[in-house]
Amino acid sequence: MKILITAGPTREPLDPVRYLSNRSSGKMGYALAAAAAARGHSVTLVSGPVALPPPKDVQVVRVVTAVDMLAAVKLHLATCDALIMAAAVADWRPVRVAKRKMKKGSEQRMLLELKRTPDILKTIAPLKGKKLFIGFAAETHNVRAEAKRKLREKRLDLIVANDVTAPGAGFEVETNRVTIFDAHSEEQLPLMPKREVAEHILDRLEAKCEA
Ligand code: C5P
Repeated sequence: MKILITAGPTREPLDPVRYLSNRSSGKMGYALAAAAAARGHSVTLVSGPVALPPPKDVQVVRVVTAVDMLAAVKLHLATCDALIMAAAVADWRPVRVAKRKMKKGSEQRMLLELKRTPDILKTIAPLKGKKLFIGFAAETHNVRAEAKRKLREKRLDLIVANDVTAPGAGFEVETNRVTIFDAHSEEQLPLMPKREVAEHILDRLEAKCEA
């Protein structure tokens, strides 16, 4: 299969030296890309800014903002069979990006006006056709209900949900404890290395592809 994977955070600039971002390390998306390439799939990885080496036999496309990531996903979508959106796309970006460094004066407070970034999955949903789409849901509460809502609203074939407050799961760690939902089932996996989580997700993706 040709698989398009996104990974890492996006960075939304405020001025030339500052940005808004999140704690995503990119490890889950990079593990998916490495595992998919090792299975012989052709993999394109659209990566936000992370400190990870490029996985072997993977074409890496580097992006910074959510808008960049949307453009890169749109560009590579036409030629892929499956999309795995593992990136932690920022939800908000500053309304104004200062051209010069914002200097502090005597003020003790500052109001920052933010606007929504594009929802990549919702934007490309009309282009889905027969492609398989997999999303992630990183939650701190109501994991099951949120995952099922996102599966429906983002027109996903599978969603991989995790409680990022659980020990050993979520951001910056080598392991994850996830539940994989499709429209009819849920599969809870034990705590395991992200590479093994990636193998489970790819098993499910390949089974859907063959179905
Ligand atoms: O809505 P939420 O951000 O929790 O949804 C998570 C899923 O949606 C992930 O697969 C993420 O990559 C994707 N997403 C997106 N565009 C955004 C935000 C999230 O495609 N702006």
